[in-house]
Amino acid sequence: MKRVAVLNHKGGSGKTTTAVNLGAALAEAGKRVLVLDFDPAAGASLWLGIASEDGRPGLAQALAGAAAFPDLVRETAVAGLEIIPAALSLSKAEKSLAGEIGGEAILKKKVADLPAGRWDYFFVDCPPTLGLLTLNALSAASHVLIPVEAHVMALSGVVSLMETVAVVRERLNPGLSVCGVLACRVDRRTLHSMEVVRILKDKFGPLLYSTQIHENVKLAESPSFAKPVTLYAPSSPGAEDYRALAREFMEKIS
Ligand SMILES: Nc1ncnc2c1ncn2[C@@H]1O[C@H](COP(=O)(O)OP(=O)(O)O)[C@@H](O)[C@H]1O
Ligand SMILES: [Mg+2]
Repeated sequence: MKRVAVLNHKGGSGKTTTAVNLGAALAEAGKRVLVLDFDPAAGASLWLGIASEDGRPGLAQALAGAAAFPDLVRETAVAGLEIIPAALSLSKAEKSLAGEIGGEAILKKKVADLPAGRWDYFFVDCPPTLGLLTLNALSAASHVLIPVEAHVMALSGVVSLMETVAVVRERLNPGLSVCGVLACRVDRRTLHSMEVVRILKDKFGPLLYSTQIHENVKLAESPSFAKPVTLYAPSSPGAEDYRALAREFMEKIS
């Protein structure tokens, strides 16, 4: 199982959009995918129609050792796509992890409890911070996927993100590698957006996916219908972009 942290400390980069819709496109292509919603805001859970606070033990309890991690897995409307939902209580869990020795390695232990061989890909939708939840995601991951909004204000953050990944690799997780940088919300009509993609290409070369995710209203609408874009608007440009990304992703990840 490839374990992919979808990472960018900047909010609005396209992390949740990518975790949900790349996951759905891979499932559509016959892969078995598990998404872990690791953001207390629970965007991925809501997008996939899973109410996070329904009284059942959740992630916070599992991280504290009071619930079994594999019991948190839920089916979604997409065959082959499952989710471990988030809850607001995850932000409290982050605080209690801070008081534990090795608090950044708890998720890695939990992931080891998942049934071996049941999924091809495990995505962690990271919160928009570089706190302990994100460090747990990076410690548990084999790969990092970095979505970047095609906006000039987003560029400087990516370099420091790469530095963070390098530090985590050195100190916590020697097996961690960046599987790709993804240009999101690319607007073909603006020169500015195309210029940002060119700068990303110069900076990251082959690490930049040649697939770009364009600005598409169906992508923005689909969370309100609790469906990934591949179900909500199967022939939309947004669905096609994520299918193209799924093909390139499967080809490149090793
Ligand atoms: N390609 C896109 N086209 C249109 N809207 C998008 C696109 N990607 C993301 N959005 C919208 O931008 C907002 C932020 O995206 P999101 O994936 O939640 O970012 P993050 O998880 O990095 O904070 C969401 O409201 C989402 O619907
Ligand atoms: Mg998000």
